[in-house]
Amino acid sequence: MIERPRRNRKSPAVRAWARETSLGVEHLISPLFVTDKASLKEEIPSLPGRFRLGLDDLLRQTEASMELGIRSFVLFPAVDEALKDKTATYSHDRDNFYLRYIRAVKERFPECVLMSDVAMDPYSSDGHDGYVEDGKILNDPTLEILAEMSVAQAKAGIDVIGPSDMMDGRVEKIRTALDREGHSEVSIMSYTAKYASAFYGPFREALDSAPKGGDKKTYQMDPANRAEALREAALDEAEGADILMVKPALSYMDVIAALAENTALPVAAYNVSGEYAMLKAAAERGWLNEDAAVCEMLLSLRRAGAKVILTYWAEHFAQLMKDGYVYH
Ligand code: PBG
Repeated sequence: MIERPRRNRKSPAVRAWARETSLGVEHLISPLFVTDKASLKEEIPSLPGRFRLGLDDLLRQTEASMELGIRSFVLFPAVDEALKDKTATYSHDRDNFYLRYIRAVKERFPECVLMSDVAMDPYSSDGHDGYVEDGKILNDPTLEILAEMSVAQAKAGIDVIGPSDMMDGRVEKIRTALDREGHSEVSIMSYTAKYASAFYGPFREALDSAPKGGDKKTYQMDPANRAEALREAALDEAEGADILMVKPALSYMDVIAALAENTALPVAAYNVSGEYAMLKAAAERGWLNEDAAVCEMLLSLRRAGAKVILTYWAEHFAQLMKDGYVYH
């Protein structure tokens, strides 16, 4: 035998020469759930180790995460049912707690990168990402609301807007509104290929944001499709997105790879709540080694082409690295 691939795997040092992919804390964004209830720190049952945080705990968590080297966060609001309505009015109320928390985090930690969620569902009495009339999710009236929400977040000091709603034309609408209001420095990470997935369950429980009727299949993508993701990517690029995201991550690595090969923009992957929950559940039963599985999973997303990963394991991974954990 002339060719023996095993020679390039014979020791940790040789494996390090041959390694094609890297993974570090700098590649991770930590999603945090926030609530108006001032001093509440409440664990989310289907997301063990993740909490709904009031302002004090949010600031404590941000500080602790930054000490571990996590610099980027995305915030999701759990809104009181009484504040929800058909047009998501609360989403752009200047005094809403979400905007107040954004201001507070950026004031305390100006160096962190803070990303928002833009969609109607946390604020909508219908539990949909868009405006609902006669059971239909209307595209164009939703755009106005999303643009208003984005401008309110920009005014509060957000660094990156994350439209997760899947309405057509929203990136251009948001970009135009931001620029008109003098926020040309605010980035847009578009949820470019967001699929109608079964893996969002724990997230909807965390925010109590599940649709009250119907499903999200007329706006989120069909899990059967890949070419369509390239179409969405081309549109988002033309509309001024800065980063393209694929969501969920694990079942859609081919889509991550396809986007990474077809765009000059950075590609992000959202390792979603259901993906976290299933590995957590297996680990709790002792069926998988969580530390090793988490590292393999996140590394695989990088190998597929993700430059940046939104993951509920951000702090867990960062702690492993701090402890000198060796995963390959
Ligand atoms: C809302 C939104 C969802 C997620 C992020 N933004 C849920 C949904 O579309 O129903 C899911 C994230 C996760 O599951 O971790 N627009």
